[in-house]
Amino acid sequence: MSTPTTVHDYHLLSPAYDMLAKAWSLGAIPQSNTIAINKIAEASNILVLGPGTCQGFGKFEFAPCHLTLIDSSAAMLKIGFSELAKIPQQRLHVVTDDFRSFTPTTKYQKIWLPYFLNVFSTQEVIEILGALKSWLQDGGEIVISDFMEPDPRFLHRFLQELWHGIPMSFFHLVTGNSWHGVHDLPKLITLSGYRITESHPCDFGPTDHRWIGMYVCKPSIPS
Ligand SMILES: C[S@@+](CC[C@H](N)C(=O)[O-])C[C@H]1O[C@@H](n2cnc3c(N)ncnc32)[C@H](O)[C@@H]1O
Repeated sequence: MSTPTTVHDYHLLSPAYDMLAKAWSLGAIPQSNTIAINKIAEASNILVLGPGTCQGFGKFEFAPCHLTLIDSSAAMLKIGFSELAKIPQQRLHVVTDDFRSFTPTTKYQKIWLPYFLNVFSTQEVIEILGALKSWLQDGGEIVISDFMEPDPRFLHRFLQELWHGIPMSFFHLVTGNSWHGVHDLPKLITLSGYRITESHPCDFGPTDHRWIGMYVCKPSIPS
């Protein structure tokens, strides 16, 4: 089951968001975001959807990139102010809005989705990834930091869904996120017309099937 997203009241959670994410993942969520930042920082033109509190974004200070950030929550972005202040302002464009209202005037070499797809239902994930294809430059990539695919083993899957479901239910009630089980991201990525070119699990969950990590994907047929 997967419900559509409604209103995003992230301002209710913004002061506690980073602490909750870090504690619930034993540091793996910020770790996976750092891996992604190191991966994309050398690109020239980067779009980030749902950057939230922008933790670790100060690393873009010396990167050569132009960075566009879109987040619908002013409260989340406000917490990231000191990180964003490190980045030369002529290389930074911050949009406080629903990304669906944004019309890009350029194409991006990298689009990074840090724990963003998890906000949405399975159908919405497919629609979002499908729509982003036309926002990518030729040879461009989507980088997804998120929860990794469901474990095929019954007991492992049960524990994974339990671990994922507790904060998911809380977020659904407080922020309006979709309520859903662990997304089968490799399947949804493929259904949306991409191929996974890299997968980087973080040190969290069973050693043979991690629960948190990063996927890099490219359109199977460039648009
Ligand atoms: C789960 S938080 C992820 C925050 C951060 N990227 C991280 O890695 O911890 C999702 C973020 O997406 C933003 N968001 C949710 N729906 C959005 C939308 N339709 N358009 C733009 N931002 C959205 C929320 O405000 C929130 O900051």
